[in-house]
Amino acid sequence: MIQLIYLSDLAGRDESVLADILASAVRHNTASGITGMLLYAGGNFLQVIEGEEDAVHETYKRISEDPRHKNLNLLIEDEVDSRQFERWSMGFYSLTDADAEKLPAFAPYFRYGFDRSAITARPGVALDLLQLFCNGNL
Ligand SMILES: Cc1cc2nc3c(=O)[nH]c(=O)nc-3n(C[C@H](O)[C@H](O)[C@H](O)COP(=O)(O)O)c2cc1C
Repeated sequence: MIQLIYLSDLAGRDESVLADILASAVRHNTASGITGMLLYAGGNFLQVIEGEEDAVHETYKRISEDPRHKNLNLLIEDEVDSRQFERWSMGFYSLTDADAEKLPAFAPYFRYGFDRSAITARPGVALDLLQLFCNGNL
C-alpha cells in the first residue's frame, strides 16, 4: 500500500471545473480501490491518493496528464501499513479565509493558496493538513 501527495495549480481561473474533477475522481477511485482527499485553496490543489501501488501509479499518471491543472509537484510517496483516508474515495474541501483564522499555525501554508515553497520545505505539513480536513477537525 502506498500513499502519494502532490501540489498543483488550477489551469486558468475557472473554478467551475472543480465539481467535474471531483465526480470523475470518485467514480474512478471507487473502481480502483483508491482513497484520498483533495484540498483546494486560491487556485492550488493539494491531494493525497492511497491504495495498491499499481493503482496509485496508474491514477497519478492519469491525473498528471489532466490539462485542468499544471505544475504538479510530488511531495511525498511512501509505503504505508494501512489507509489513513479510508472514509473517502475522494474527499474534497475548499479552504477559506475563515479556516485560516481558525488554524493560525497552518495559515501560512494555505492562506491565499497553498504556499509551494513553505510546503515543499516541510512536506509533513501537507499530510497534517489533509488529515485535519479529512476528519473534519476544524
Ligand atoms: C486536481 C485533480 C485531481 C484529480 N483527482 C483524481 C483522482 O483522485 N482519481 C482519478 O481517477 N482522477 C482524478 N482526476 C481526474 C483525472 O485527471 C482524469 O481527468 C479522469 O480520471 C479522466 O476520467 P474521465 O474522462 O472518465 O472523467 C483529477 C484531476 C484533477 C485536475
